[in-house]
Amino acid sequence: MIVVLGVASVAVGVLIGMPPFAYIIIGLLIAVPTLVYVYKPRENVLTNAKALVAFFGATAATLLIIQFIPYGKDHSNPPVNGEPAWSSPRTRKLMVNACFGCHSNSVEYPAYASIAPISWMVQSHIDKGREEVNYQEWNSRQGEAEETIEVIEDGSMPPSYYTMFGKHPEDRLTNAEITELIAGLLATEGMNEND
Ligand code: HEC
Repeated sequence: MIVVLGVASVAVGVLIGMPPFAYIIIGLLIAVPTLVYVYKPRENVLTNAKALVAFFGATAATLLIIQFIPYGKDHSNPPVNGEPAWSSPRTRKLMVNACFGCHSNSVEYPAYASIAPISWMVQSHIDKGREEVNYQEWNSRQGEAEETIEVIEDGSMPPSYYTMFGKHPEDRLTNAEITELIAGLLATEGMNEND
């Protein structure tokens, strides 16, 4: 039962792109006290109900404790250092909606991004996203920018975990918007390998 719950949590974690350290911290905090409790020598038999209470108790305590870990709490943005010469304001707007949530220095953090472990997940997407390409650090070379059109065409960006369950509906691109955006990006320098 507990194993099933554990496996299910990891599966959900992978699906939404949890950073690896989250499994270690959360896993240790929940697994260790639960196992200690379950295997501790005792006179009478341990009932399933009691084991479950121990598991959920450890989970609740863990959720409280991890709120004190600072990672993901700093929601300040670095200064904007230049942007591509967008071919039109409309191209920029579509990019802002769909991509600036992770690839810019104008990230707007939703309220739930203050709650661990969601805050860790959000922060790790933004850190990794900015590392790949930051459309507001245009004063330095953004190595992966030339993949921009490609990732939109093949549908890998924005990532599915971002728009899943109806989250960020304003950031999901319709087919018409994708066509429009790609035309706009073809006319913007630096968005594909041929520029
Ligand atoms: C929820 C955050 C998020 C959003 C929104 C997002 N990205 Fe990304 N992006 C990432 C992350 C994380 C990576 C690096 C790891 C990966 O590939 O998943 C990445 C990688 C990339 C790369 C590097 C190539 C690659 O496939 O690894 C490009 C180019 C890119 N994104 C463009 C975009 C564009 C264009 C949009 C908008 C249409 C967008 N991204 C929206 C998080 C995001």
